[in-house]
Amino acid sequence: MSEVTLEKIASLCKRRGIIFPNSEIYGGIGGFYDYGPVGVEMKNNYKKYWWKYMVDKRENVVGIDGTIITHPKVWEASGHVKGFADEAMECKKCHARFRPEDIDGKCPKCGSSDFTEARKYNILFNTEIGVIEGEKMPAYLRGEACQTIYLDFKNVVDSTRQQIPFGIAQIGKAFRNEITPNKFTFRTREFEQWDLQYFVKPEDMQKSFEYWKEERMKFYKGLFRNQESLRFHQHPKEKLVFYAKDAYDIEYLAPWGWAEAEGIHWRGDYDLTQHSTFSGKDLSYTDPMTGEKYIPNIVETSGGVDRTFLFLLLDAYDEEQLDNGDVRTVLRIHKDIAAYRAAVFPLVSNKEEIVKKAREVFGMLSDDYKVLWDSRGNIGKRYRYQDEIGTPYCITVDYDTLENGTVTVRDRDTMKQERVKIEDLSEAIA
Ligand code: GAP
Repeated sequence: MSEVTLEKIASLCKRRGIIFPNSEIYGGIGGFYDYGPVGVEMKNNYKKYWWKYMVDKRENVVGIDGTIITHPKVWEASGHVKGFADEAMECKKCHARFRPEDIDGKCPKCGSSDFTEARKYNILFNTEIGVIEGEKMPAYLRGEACQTIYLDFKNVVDSTRQQIPFGIAQIGKAFRNEITPNKFTFRTREFEQWDLQYFVKPEDMQKSFEYWKEERMKFYKGLFRNQESLRFHQHPKEKLVFYAKDAYDIEYLAPWGWAEAEGIHWRGDYDLTQHSTFSGKDLSYTDPMTGEKYIPNIVETSGGVDRTFLFLLLDAYDEEQLDNGDVRTVLRIHKDIAAYRAAVFPLVSNKEEIVKKAREVFGMLSDDYKVLWDSRGNIGKRYRYQDEIGTPYCITVDYDTLENGTVTVRDRDTMKQERVKIEDLSEAIA
C-alpha cells in the first residue's frame, strides 16, 4: 500500500517487543540494541534456520562456539591492529561525523557543505585482561567472529572425522567501534555474524567459491518475499585486498538503496599462513590418503545476523487496506522465523469451560511449537497484535468447541478462518 520505511520498522519493533534501543532509560547509547520478547524468538529461529541449512544438512560442515576475547596477538596476525579502520569526515559547522559515502554534498544534519578531509580511525574495541595495575594485558573484543575459527582449525582437524574439503561454521558476536552507527540495526557497534569458513585444496578454490556464492543466495531467496530485492555485487578488482582473487556481496534493496547483507570472500591461504607465522605453530594440513601437505585455502561466507534480520523485517512488512477502510499492518515473515507458530485464544475470558479447553489446546500445541496465549481484550485487537508480529495462525476456542470439538484457525496472510478438529490442529499448522 505505502512504502516501508526504517522509521515504520523501528516503531513496530519497539511497539511489539521485537527490538529495543539499549539503555533507553539513560538516554540510549548509539549503536547498541536489545531484542525483546518477540524479537529474541525470531532471532533464535533465524539462527536455527541458518544452522540447519549450513551445518545440520551437510556432511562436511561442523560448528564451533568461540570466545569474544582472544590472545591479543590474533589481531596483530589478522591485520586488524594496523588496518581495521573506518573513514569519517566531520562537518565544520555542526561537527557531526559521517562516512564519506553517506554524504551527497551537504551535511545531512545542518545542510552545510564544509567538511574536513576524510580521516581514518581504528575501530577495534580495546579491553584489558587482569586486575593488577602494571600486570594488565591489553586485549580486544573480536572485530570479526571468524578469527576464532582459524584458531580452532587444527583442533577441529585433530578431533573430528572431517577431511578437506570441509567447513567450520559459527554464529557469534563481533564488535566494531563504528564512528557512525546508523540506520537502526544496520550498522551497530555490537552485532552477530554468521560465518562459514570452508577449507579446500588450493586448486579447488574457484569451484568452491562459485558453489558457496550460489548456495548463500539460495538461502536468502528461500526466506525473502521480494526476490528482485536481492542481488550480487562483485567487488571491483582494484578494491580487493591483496590476497583475494574475488569477492561478492549479497545486497538487499533497502529503503536507502542497495546495501550489503553478506560477503562471499576468497581468503586463500592468508589467514592460516598469518597465524602459522605469528604463533610459530604449523597450521598446514596433511591429506590422510595421499600424505600431501599444504596450507588449506579458504572460502568465507560472512553475514550479519542483525543486519539481515532487519532486511527480513523490511521485506516482510505490509500495510493492507481493508474493505471497512481500516489499514492492517501485517508482517508476512517466513513461518519458520515467526516468533510463534500460533496464538491460542479463548473467545471469552469469563467462561470457565472455554478457558479450560483453550488451556488444553495451548498445552497440547506447546509440546511441538512455540505458541502464545492471549485472553486480553477483544478478538479483533488480538488478531491485530498477532498480524503485526507475523504469527501465522490464530486459534480460537469458542462455544462451538464445547459442542463439537473444533476450533477456528485464522490464517495471517488470507485472514480466512476454518474450523479444525482439535486432534487435527497440530498437523494443520505444521
Ligand atoms: N569475516 C569477514 C567479515 O567480517 P565484513 O564484510 O566486515 O566481513 C560481514 O562483515 C558482515 O557483517 C557484513 O556483510 C554485515 O552484514 C555484518 N556487519 C559488518 N559490520 C556491521 C555493523 N557495524 N553492524 C551490523 N552488521 C555489520
